[in-house]
Amino acid sequence: MDKIISPLVFVIFGATGDLTRTKLLPALYSLYRLGKITHNFFILGVSRREIAVNDFREMMRLAAQSGGSADFNSGTWAEFADGIDYEPGYFENPDLYQRIVGKLKRYDKLAKACVPRFFYLSTAPEHYAPILEHLHNSGLSAGCGQLSAAFTRVLIEKPFGRDLETAAELENQLSHVFSEKQIFRIDHYLGKETVQNILAFRFANGIFDPTWNRQFIDHVQITLDETVGVGTRGAFYDGIGALRDVVQNHMLEMLALMAIEQPIAFNEKNIRDEKIKILEAIKCIKIDQTVNNTVRGQYQGNGKLLSFIKEKNVSNNSNTETFVALKLFVENDRWDGVPFYLRTGKRLNRKLVQISVHYKKPVLCKQDVCFYNPTQVLRNVLAIKIQPHEGIDLRVMVKEPGFGMKLTPIQMKFRYNSEFSGTSKPDAYARLLIDAIAGDQTLFARSDGIAASWKLMMSIREGWESARVPLQIYKSGSTGPAAAEELINRDGRHWI
Ligand SMILES: NC(=O)c1ccc[n+]([C@@H]2O[C@H](COP(=O)([O-])OP(=O)(O)OC[C@H]3O[C@@H](n4cnc5c(N)ncnc54)[C@H](OP(=O)(O)O)[C@@H]3O)[C@@H](O)[C@H]2O)c1
Repeated sequence: MDKIISPLVFVIFGATGDLTRTKLLPALYSLYRLGKITHNFFILGVSRREIAVNDFREMMRLAAQSGGSADFNSGTWAEFADGIDYEPGYFENPDLYQRIVGKLKRYDKLAKACVPRFFYLSTAPEHYAPILEHLHNSGLSAGCGQLSAAFTRVLIEKPFGRDLETAAELENQLSHVFSEKQIFRIDHYLGKETVQNILAFRFANGIFDPTWNRQFIDHVQITLDETVGVGTRGAFYDGIGALRDVVQNHMLEMLALMAIEQPIAFNEKNIRDEKIKILEAIKCIKIDQTVNNTVRGQYQGNGKLLSFIKEKNVSNNSNTETFVALKLFVENDRWDGVPFYLRTGKRLNRKLVQISVHYKKPVLCKQDVCFYNPTQVLRNVLAIKIQPHEGIDLRVMVKEPGFGMKLTPIQMKFRYNSEFSGTSKPDAYARLLIDAIAGDQTLFARSDGIAASWKLMMSIREGWESARVPLQIYKSGSTGPAAAEELINRDGRHWI
């Protein structure tokens, strides 16, 4: 997107919080540095602490420096910081919104235009309802002129509810104030270059799409392993758990992109329609299958690392899972019978986000005569690496050099950093923000998709409760609970 967009104002609720400092502000600054947003660009930070504008600017400078230090330049920072403003106040207080009205009028005057408004809710979810209500009551959500509602947008962060019911409630609150075209639900995984590459890789290469189905693919694995624990998020995480925190959104979004049919056109409607068909086609796990097809675990301390139940703001008898493994099926012609194994956890032995496609082995033996020793031949595995080393690996079998015929697996590797070393890769948030500014919703979640994913999550949670699926304790720094190995080994397969 080469168009430079201006004027605009980002009103950030929760402007002194972690997300604004680590992601939003560095992303907005990098867009400014790249010339994607330019003059008449305003940021109005809103949060409860009483600080002066200059102190807020200083906080943001430090954030920009540590978020993208290679990018930082004091000249452009001075220009950028000129557009940063701050308004202290409590989200629940209607007076705050009158003060925001006053500030936005001032920006309109400065820009001599109705400045398009982007309301970014970078707050805990319990603040969404009062903020939305006050945006509506104060008239802020209507924009400043007759046509400006179309240029007024709201951006919200996951979690989009904590179950089907609260997600529906949130959708109600959002749709009362904004139309679907104005709502941008952020799942930052969709802004990642490798995730977006899934579609390019699948549909722009003649060799993959024809084999992307149950005839050739044995199974798919999606892994989201973290080495960190809950850190400072204990109060939020306890009672939420891994299923709601990352499976409902990031992992199902990745699954949907891997499984979708080729959209009629590469536009927001068709891509999102196809993704939602997949989310709706994932078979709910029946209660009597929950024990075999799901695993829930919780980390235990190891050396200096605390157990989950000893973490700050976590109850000492918490039953919340910090690990989940699932076996899911997409019920359609393409994927019938192909398992999708999902695994995610905190405090594991590695940081890795990866999707791997495990192909069926070729037929090597006919009438008891084998062309090669079948035990020497491993499956072809296509591994899409999302973190930490973005790229794609393909495992293929080759003949080892020398006399005789000995087969060995090798990796064909593509790495973004070496292949595109001279090209700067936009950060996921920068990519999402520029799309939201341009009004392109392709990379944002849609309300029907959210409902479909919650339906599935609820069926799993109900199964956990009814079948009393036990919490498997695993040691911090390990690969997770043994039950997760059993979940896949039972099918004669292994985690990659
Ligand atoms: N942090 C991340 O990397 C990350 C990643 C993905 C999604 N998220 C989501 O993004 C949202 C924000 O997360 P966060 O980590 O930035 O939270 P955070 O660090 O706790 O920040 C919360 C912000 O809200 C303000 N605030 C809290 N209560 C307020 C009130 N009653 N009135 C006015 N201001 C109030 C705080 O102001 P004071 O500082 O003045 O107290 C602070 O600016 C959450 O929904 C989270 O789940 C975060």
